[in-house]
Amino acid sequence: MVRSGNLTATRAEILQLVSGAAAIVSDVTVCIDEEVLNRAGEQLKVVANFAVGFDNIDLDACAVRGVVVTNTPGVLTAATAELAVALTLAATRGLSQAEAELRAGRWSTWDPSAYCTPQVSGATVGVIGMGRIGTEYARMMKVFGTEILYCSRSPKPDIAGTLDAQRVSVPELLSRADIISVHVSASSSNRHLIDADALALVKPMAVLVNTSRGSVVDSQAVATALREQRLWGAGLDVYEFEPSVPRELLEAPRAVLLPHIGSATRPARDDMAKLVAHNVVSILQGQGAVTPVPCEPRQTRVK
Ligand code: GLV
Repeated sequence: MVRSGNLTATRAEILQLVSGAAAIVSDVTVCIDEEVLNRAGEQLKVVANFAVGFDNIDLDACAVRGVVVTNTPGVLTAATAELAVALTLAATRGLSQAEAELRAGRWSTWDPSAYCTPQVSGATVGVIGMGRIGTEYARMMKVFGTEILYCSRSPKPDIAGTLDAQRVSVPELLSRADIISVHVSASSSNRHLIDADALALVKPMAVLVNTSRGSVVDSQAVATALREQRLWGAGLDVYEFEPSVPRELLEAPRAVLLPHIGSATRPARDDMAKLVAHNVVSILQGQGAVTPVPCEPRQTRVK
C-alpha cells in the first residue's frame, strides 16, 4: 500500500500498514511496541526511526524478535544544537515577550529600564548530557565567551580540553550555571531529572533550555518556578505528552515554547531521510545497519 501527503495515521491505520512489512520507518510520534511488532509479523527485519532519539520504540521487544533498530545520529547535530542556541538567546533576552508587546501595540517609547534581562555573553553555561548535540551546543556557546560546565556519565577529556569545560555533578551544575541546557536521551532513569527539587537549586536569574525529550523535565515544576520568579526563563522545544503542551506552561511568564522543531532544517531532514533509506536498504540486502541503535537501553541516570 502506498500513501503519501497526509502523514498522520491513526493507531488502527498503523497496525494495518505494518502488516507483512519487512521494514518499518517510524518517527517520534509512532509508538513501536509489541502489538505493532506482532502485527508486522516474523518477516520484519528492521525498524528505522526517522529521529536520533528512540524512546518511541520498545528495544527489548525488537531484540527478542531479532529486529534491528536504527536511528539518525550525526546528521541533525548542527540543526538541533543551533535551535538550542536560538532558544538560549530567545529565553535569556525575553524575545517572545518583547515581540508580543510590540505586536500588541504596547511599545510606546525607548525606555532605559524596559525589557532588561540577563545576558548570554560571559555567562556560565551548564550542559547536561555531553553527547553529540550537547558537545556541539557547548562549542557554539563558547563563541559568547562563556564558561562551560557539563555533566555526563563518563568524562570527556578531549572536549574538556578544547572547550576548557569542567565536569561537575548535576546539583553543582544546577547551582552554578546561568544557562542550563538539557541534552540527555529519554529513559525511565532520566524521567523528571529536572524536577522541583532540581529547580530549587538554580539561580533565580537562570535560564533552562530543553531540546532533548519532554519527559526529562517536569513542566509543572518549571511553570511554578517561572511564576514564582525562582527561574528567569525557559526555552522548550519538547513536552512530555506531545503535541499537548501543559496549560501551566502556556500561561507561564518568560517561557519560549516551540513545537519540537530541533531537527527541522531542510538539510538535516533531507540527510535524515537518506540515512533512514540507507539503513533499510542495507539491512534488507543483508549488509547490516549503517547506524544501529544498541540493543541494551541505557538506564543510568546522569549524575
Ligand atoms: C527528534 O526529536 C529526534 O530525536 O531526532
